[in-house]
Amino acid sequence: METKTATKKSPAKKTTTAKTSAKASAKTPAKKNAAKQLEDLFEDSLKDIYWAEKALLKALPTMMKNATSEKLKTAIDKHITETEGHVERLEECFKALGKKAQAKKCDAMQGLLDEGKSIIEETEPGAVRDAGIIAAAQKVEHYEIATYGTLAAFAKVLKEEECLKNLLSTLEEEKKCDELLTKVADTNLNSKAK
Ligand SMILES: [Fe+2]
Ligand SMILES: [Fe+2]
Repeated sequence: METKTATKKSPAKKTTTAKTSAKASAKTPAKKNAAKQLEDLFEDSLKDIYWAEKALLKALPTMMKNATSEKLKTAIDKHITETEGHVERLEECFKALGKKAQAKKCDAMQGLLDEGKSIIEETEPGAVRDAGIIAAAQKVEHYEIATYGTLAAFAKVLKEEECLKNLLSTLEEEKKCDELLTKVADTNLNSKAK
């Protein structure tokens, strides 16, 4: 019985798909060439991370204020200064492209920051909250590392040398921040275990 039903439904589905794709292709404008598409994707991704860096700049002081470990506070403080530089480097990128610096809401960063906020709300001040703050901060850093790695690869293909230089400098700082957070996490958890 089940096989019969499936056989009956299958051709009907195919007809619908064929009709839909015929309609879609009739409405689709002339295709942009690959280089133009990559340029657009590059610019769009810059807007996305520009929003993300600015949102992070607002969230980091709250993370710092809620941390107990002096080492963690210092690490976050250092990264606030670096993040200001990341925003400036992105503005340099827009300038090099002859575009106005524009931010576009990054849902991924918003989600990561919301998660960080919940951790703070759900924990007591101390080593465990610190571990949660480090976890949230490292997720942010990993997101940034992935984004800047991709953006640098795009800039290389597009031969946007000025952008490439700036993106690689930021990428390096994001990686160092992530490494520093790992060290702080080890100390934090080890001291708690003792
Ligand atoms: Fe950053
Ligand atoms: Fe960062």
